Amino acid sequence: NGTHRVNMSNVDSPLQIFVRAKKKINDIFIEIDDYVKDAVTFMHAVAGDSSIASAQDLTNVEAYVSKVQAIREVLKRDHMKVAFFGRTSNGKSTVINAMLHDKILPSGIGHTTNCFLQVEGSDTNESFMRTEGSEEKLSVQSVSQLGHALCATRLQECSLVHVYWPRELCALLRDDVVLVDSPGVDVTPNLDEWIDKYCLDADVFVLVANAESTLMIAEKNFFHKVSTKISQPNIFILNNRWDASASEPEYMDQVRSQHANRCVDFLSRELRVCTPKEAEERIFFISAKEALLTRMREREKPVSSPILADGHQIRYFEFVDFERKFEECISQSAVRTKFAQHSRRGKNIAAEVMSALEQMKASKVEKQRILQEQLTAIEEQLTSITRQMKEKIGKMVSLTLSQEIRRLSALVDEYDT
Ligand code: GTP
Ligand code: MG
Repeated sequence: NGTHRVNMSNVDSPLQIFVRAKKKINDIFIEIDDYVKDAVTFMHAVAGDSSIASAQDLTNVEAYVSKVQAIREVLKRDHMKVAFFGRTSNGKSTVINAMLHDKILPSGIGHTTNCFLQVEGSDTNESFMRTEGSEEKLSVQSVSQLGHALCATRLQECSLVHVYWPRELCALLRDDVVLVDSPGVDVTPNLDEWIDKYCLDADVFVLVANAESTLMIAEKNFFHKVSTKISQPNIFILNNRWDASASEPEYMDQVRSQHANRCVDFLSRELRVCTPKEAEERIFFISAKEALLTRMREREKPVSSPILADGHQIRYFEFVDFERKFEECISQSAVRTKFAQHSRRGKNIAAEVMSALEQMKASKVEKQRILQEQLTAIEEQLTSITRQMKEKIGKMVSLTLSQEIRRLSALVDEYDT
């Protein structure tokens, strides 16, 4: 059935930075969870003594249990997200398919992708799709109906289709990368809505440009908008369809540096999202079509096999180089933005529970001190009472004695007479 498992070892993939950090922070939250639950159990145990743990103290600490639970849920779903933008037909869907090693998303000449398509790993290892807000699992075959501009059943341009694909078939998906395909930026007036809905949580943006022409105003405007809403977005530029250069070898180097200069200028001087030197590391000349073909052939998938143009191997290496730089960038950025926030929250929760427990201990110590004081006071009182009693008894005894003596001596006197 053409199932192709990713059996290459990916322990040295840059994505592991994210995968390991996620595992670590998950483990830490399991510990925080235990700690908070222990605190609650303890407080229940001493709750009988209302002067140590009040009902309010208990409610406060119990609230942390659900907070920690909520963070653990978010953590489980945390992923790295990359969104692809560019003009119609530049090859966005083809780039994603090449990265996924399979023809999953619809691609073709003309205006093809009609709505947002988000490809992510499926936990059940089956492939299916879902439209936004519906639980119904649709067959992936229907992605070409729902997502294709030429189909009658197509969705609204701004809507989202989730495509779930078995993790074991693709290293990117297994390591929690989510890829978002979009319609061409030149076919919509709703760029702001797109950005608000699909870009604010993206870790990396890929601008798929057409090396046969040049960066267009529509593409530039879109990223100008993005960079007003997101501070320092990570942007890669793919000059796609670079296979076209093979037919005009005499100008290849000049065209390449023309594109490269414009792209560096755009990222560093216009958008100011990086330095010119950093920008150079973000620009690639590739052929997504060739990369996809090469990978389909590697997997012995039946493909129509035109002869690849001169230099296809160099273009393929550049594609692989892009993937590596992209993986480094996305995992570092996602760790920074996603986990830094969680670890701050975790630290605060642990500290707050600790201070609640410490307050309890302090109030217990205080209570003991008061008790001790009271005891001492009572003891002192007792001593003084005893002393007084003794004195009184002594007096009483001596009084009685002297009376008796007087009585006896009276008797003696009487007897004498
Ligand atoms: P829309 O979905 O319409 O916005 O387009 P898109 O950017 O997703 O482009 P798509 O991937 O559908 O590709 C458009 C056409 O260009 C398809 O026929 C692809 O096979 C072809 N194509 C994509 N990449 C390349 C490339 O690197 N070289 C060549 N020669 N053709 C390509
Ligand atoms: Mg497309």
